[in-house]
This record gives sequence, C-alpha cells and structure tokens, in this order.
Amino acid sequence: MTMRIGCVGCGNMGGAILAGLARSAGHNQDQTDAYALCGYNRTASRMRPLEQAGVQVMTSPLAVAENADIIILAVKPYQMREVVGQLRPALDANKVLVSVAAGITSGSLAQWAENACPVVRCMPNTPALVGMGVFALCFEDPKLSQSSKQSLLQVFGTLGQCVELAEEKFTAFSALIGAGPAYVFAMMQGLVQAGVTLGFTHAQSRQMVTALFAGSARMAEQDASPLGQLRDNVCSPGGLTIAGVNVLDRAGLTGLLVDAVLAADARGAEMERKGG
Ligand SMILES: NC(=O)c1ccc[n+]([C@@H]2O[C@H](COP(=O)([O-])OP(=O)(O)OC[C@H]3O[C@@H](n4cnc5c(N)ncnc54)[C@H](OP(=O)(O)O)[C@@H]3O)[C@@H](O)[C@H]2O)c1
Repeated sequence: MTMRIGCVGCGNMGGAILAGLARSAGHNQDQTDAYALCGYNRTASRMRPLEQAGVQVMTSPLAVAENADIIILAVKPYQMREVVGQLRPALDANKVLVSVAAGITSGSLAQWAENACPVVRCMPNTPALVGMGVFALCFEDPKLSQSSKQSLLQVFGTLGQCVELAEEKFTAFSALIGAGPAYVFAMMQGLVQAGVTLGFTHAQSRQMVTALFAGSARMAEQDASPLGQLRDNVCSPGGLTIAGVNVLDRAGLTGLLVDAVLAADARGAEMERKGG
C-alpha cells in the first residue's frame, strides 16, 4: 500500500528527508509506489529541486496534513507550535505527527495537537543530510499503532539507522550522537592538520583522512572484536603506531571524549529545564 508522507518545513533537514525518500523510491523498483510524497515550505523556491524529484508541492501546512498520513514537521523549534496549530483541523486518529525539532517534547506536541493524533518525537543527526543519519525515535504515545510504528521504522530506515529510545534518553542521545559529528570533525581536522604539517597538500590530506574514517568505521561495523583489540592490531611491537598511540594515552584522549559527551549532556539537561 502506498504510504502518504508529507513534510512541513523543507529546509536542510526536511528537504534531506524528502529527497532521501524520493531517491529511495526512484532507485528501488519495488518501492516505486511505496511513497506518495508531498511538502510545503515557507519560501517556495526551496521546493523546486524536491518537485523535480517527484515531491508534490503543497500550498499550506494544512494541505500537507490533508494529503499525508505521516506528517513530518521540520521547522525550527520555536515555529513548531504555530505550525501544529495551522494543520490541526486535518489531524485525526489515522494520522501520525512526527517532529524532528530539537528540544520539543512529545508532551508539548500532543498538547498543541489537542491529542487529535498520535505523536512521535524523532531526533536525527546531520549525516541524515547524506542518507547516513542516526534517527532516535520515541514511540511512547499509547495512541500509536503497531503498524504505524513499523511504517516509521521503514521510512526512517531508508535514510539511515533507527534507534527506538525512551524520551528520557533523548538528551543523552543528543549529547552523544546528535553532537557526535562535531567531535568526529574535530578529530578529522586534527589529523588533516597533521597531514599538512608532514607536507601533504590540504586537499590530499583531507581526502585521505576522510577515507581513513570511513574505512575504520566500516571495520568497526563488520568486525565485532573489542575496539581496543582493533586498535592493538594496528600497533606492531616497537613500531611507529604505538609511538603515536602512547601520546594519545598520555594526553587521555578517551577520558577527554567521555568528558566532552558528559558536558554536552549536562548542558542539554540545563537547557531542557529552562525550556530551551
Ligand atoms: N539540520 C540538522 O542537522 C538538524 C539535526 C537535528 C534536528 N534538526 C531539527 O530540524 C528542524 C529544521 O532544522 P533545519 O536545520 O532543517 O532548519 P532550516 O534549514 O532553517 O529549515 C527550516 C525550514 O522551515 C521553513 N519554515 C519556517 N516556517 C515555516 C512555516 N510556517 N511553514 C513551512 N515552512 C516553514 C523554513 O523556510 P524558509 O526557507 O522560508 O526559511 C526553512 O526552509 C529544527 O527543528 C531542528 O531542531 C535539524
């Protein structure tokens, strides 16, 4: 059966979600009819590339809600309340409202939607923009049916990996995985800088370091050995790798990463207490 999916707010994240779904439907013959996609964005020109990819352009948030069963909200957090109010007349028990807005709780969404439909809170990270996101999904609304839950896992599974999480874990997820690309890019930047210091061009160094992260991530994915073991496998006795790794251990890189995530988590909890 064709799933009708709509998105209100088609900027970076909403646009990437719709583009990813349009691409997956286009690439996979079995899915050609799987999704009917529609969207609305305040600035209409942002819809042009999506329209070319097969997304039906709507003229209001309400029209999206009328034409979709899964309604994804990807406007900025402070715009969410107003947008939910605009599409409220089309919400009923057969629709599902999914918000990707950082810091907006399921409770607020349900309240703004006047409990007319099930709500799902979703937290993506930026690699979703290239189809390799990690999506935390909170399925705690008792109004959500098992089949809607399966549909959402399928939809977001086409855009990356899904993790079903209790809402109380969303701040921890944001500190580790939402903020995660910043930690990874910081480490990449350090290695690129090292490469330049050793005489590689910036472009060469960046290309090699990017491949290094992609390859290492693939190994960690495919080989279930403890990460310490994978690390030790690279360190020949008396070799150059162990000389480098010793410097990282003396500086306490592992502890530093743990502290960075704990600091982000503490800040996230503080922001939640203050309401953003
Ligand atoms: N980007 C990320 O990596 C990321 C990660 C996690 C969560 N999120 C969440 O995703 C949401 C969107 O973030 P973003 O980075 O994609 O921001 P963005 O690029 O600014 O996209 C927001 C879009 O919403 C549109 N918009 C604003 N009000 C609207 C309305 N009333 N009706 C329809 N469209 C409207 C804006 O239109 P204009 O073009 O007119 O401005 C803009 O295109 C946020 O809530 C954020 O917390 C983003």
